This record gives sequence, structure tokens and C-alpha cells, in this order.
Amino acid sequence: MEQESVDKMSEIFDVTYDTTLHNNQDRLSSLIAMTDAVIVRNKTQLTEELLLKANKLIFVGRLGVGLDNIDTNFCSANNIFVQPATGMNADSVAEYVITCALSLLKNIPIAHSGTISGQWPRTSIESRELGGKTLGLLGFGTIGRKVCRLAQVFGAEVIAYDPFVQKSDISEFNISLVEQEKLFSLSDVISIHLPLTNDTKDLINENSFNLMERNPIIINSSRGSIVNENDLIKAYSQNVISGFALDVYSSEPIKEDFYKQISNSMNCILTPHTSGVTSESNIRVSEFITEKTISFLNG
Ligand SMILES: NC(=O)c1ccc[n+]([C@@H]2O[C@H](COP(=O)([O-])OP(=O)(O)OC[C@H]3O[C@@H](n4cnc5c(N)ncnc54)[C@H](O)[C@@H]3O)[C@@H](O)[C@H]2O)c1
Repeated sequence: MEQESVDKMSEIFDVTYDTTLHNNQDRLSSLIAMTDAVIVRNKTQLTEELLLKANKLIFVGRLGVGLDNIDTNFCSANNIFVQPATGMNADSVAEYVITCALSLLKNIPIAHSGTISGQWPRTSIESRELGGKTLGLLGFGTIGRKVCRLAQVFGAEVIAYDPFVQKSDISEFNISLVEQEKLFSLSDVISIHLPLTNDTKDLINENSFNLMERNPIIINSSRGSIVNENDLIKAYSQNVISGFALDVYSSEPIKEDFYKQISNSMNCILTPHTSGVTSESNIRVSEFITEKTISFLNG
């Protein structure tokens, strides 16, 4: 959390700020037992076991939007209010998605590694434009909509799959809502903006890749377990997809058996769950959660 936000809360509350607490389960357990509010990023696992010790807890602030590290069922059953930083890092993620789409359409990872190894791959590398391509968005919530707006500036056609969105609610966006299978078959770039749920776990798997007809680029900045990583690597090696960008993984930090399969000659971008983290978004997220914490605890 930004120090200024910590300082602001410290003027009003008794605050313990410790960025290593997620690694110290004993200290976390003893501190949470005395705490009215807790603020976490994504590493602290607020499990039922831990929350059972939090007798006084009434508020959880999340410096981000994914709630899969928090037992939200337990929280709602026990009157613990959970506040995500909804929308506060959406611009950062949306910029990341467009950066990756452009970079991968232009095969920049391969051009870069070829150039710095002295190969001068000027004619061997195909480069494409986002304009005129079809961008398929899985999930048309906060981030999906921001990606849509940016992609349309580049002249991309946008389609989306989101069964929880009504056409009438998104009439200001010039997009088509389509079935998932259609999205797979029509898209040149597929970007995933779903929550991790029982329905979305492993959603992108061998069957989905088999439906892709346009050698799409896959971008996942949502949650790792939504994409089956083995099937993704297989789809890339069989030229079913032409590139991929991953910011999130089924296991974080990523395991050796996964990253050993990645090489400089692949059209891919891997980042360590940082697409939502920019200097600007850190400030927005911290200030937002600080305001929410203060107003909640002050009643
Ligand atoms: N990598 C990062 O740093 C980072 C940062 C911010 C958000 N995220 C993740 O990005 C994802 C999207 O965030 P958001 O703020 O846009 O969320 P959101 O809740 O605003 O949007 C999610 C959308 O997915 C739709 N949806 C839910 N289940 C679905 C299903 N089974 N099939 C199709 N659509 C479904 C919902 O209707 C909703 O419109 C989340 O997983 C979030 O945790 C990652």
C-alpha cells in the first residue's frame, strides 16, 4: 500500500503495516484476532480457518479486484464486509492488453530476440495490424469494456461473450455479443476478463483451442487457472494459436516445469502478475481503499 495512505489511516486508527505478514501465518493469526479491519493484496489467503480466529473483524479491504484469495462466503455469512478496489486498476490492465495485442500481432518478441542475437530477421517475420482484426473478449465487465474502447480506436471489431450482460445495458458499445464457440472461431485476438469461478476454471482448454480458426493470439490478464497452460503450449506448438500473453498463472510464482517450456523463439510475453500494477494505479487503489476503510469504520 502507498505509504501516504498508511499514514492517513494511522492518524485515525491503530495500524499495523507489514508487507511480509502473508509469510508469517502465526503472527497473522494472532494479529487478526485483535483486528477490526484488514487490508490485503492477493498473497494473503483469508481462508475460513484464519477468519474463524478473526472474532472482531468487520471489514476486509482488497488492494485489487480479484477476490479468490478471500473466503467471501464465510465473510458474508459472518457480516464481514469485503471491499475490492473495483475499477481502480482497470486502465492499467486495459493498456497492458492492447500493448500485448499489438506486440504479438507484430511478432515483436521474436523480432527482438532475433535482432539482439545478430540474426537481422527483417524479412522472415510477419507483422500485422490490430485495425480490421476481430477482438474477442471473454467477459465484458469493467476491464473488458475498457479494452473494447481502446481496441476500437485502432479500428478493431469487437465481439464479446458474457451471458450476464444484456444487450440493452451495453448499447453504447458498438459490439456483438456472441456465444463462446462463435467467439473462438471468429477472433484474431482473444482476451480473457473473467473472474475465477467453478464455471470458468479451465475454461480455455484443448476443446476451446480446437474451435479456433484464425490462429488467434491469446491474452490472459484475469486469473491463471482459467487457461489450461499445457493445452495452451500445445496449441502454440501446433500453430493453432499464433502467440500468447500471460500475466496470471495456475501457480504463482510460476513453476519450473512451466517456464522451461518457454523460449526466446516463441511469440509470447510473460509477466509476473503485474498488468494491473502501475505507479498510477497503486495510488488510486490505495486512496480508494483508504477512503472506504475510514468511512466504513467510522460508521
Ligand atoms: N492481472 C491483474 O493484475 C488484474 C488486475 C485487475 C483485475 N484482474 C482480474 O481481471 C478479471 C476481470 O476483472 P473485472 O474488473 O473486469 O471484473 P468484472 O467483474 O467487472 O467483469 C467480469 C465479467 O465477467 C462476466 N462473467 C462472469 N462469469 C462468466 C462466465 N462464466 N462466462 C462469461 N462471462 C462471465 C461477468 O458478467 C462480468 O461482466 C478478474 O478475474 C480480476 O480478478 C487482474
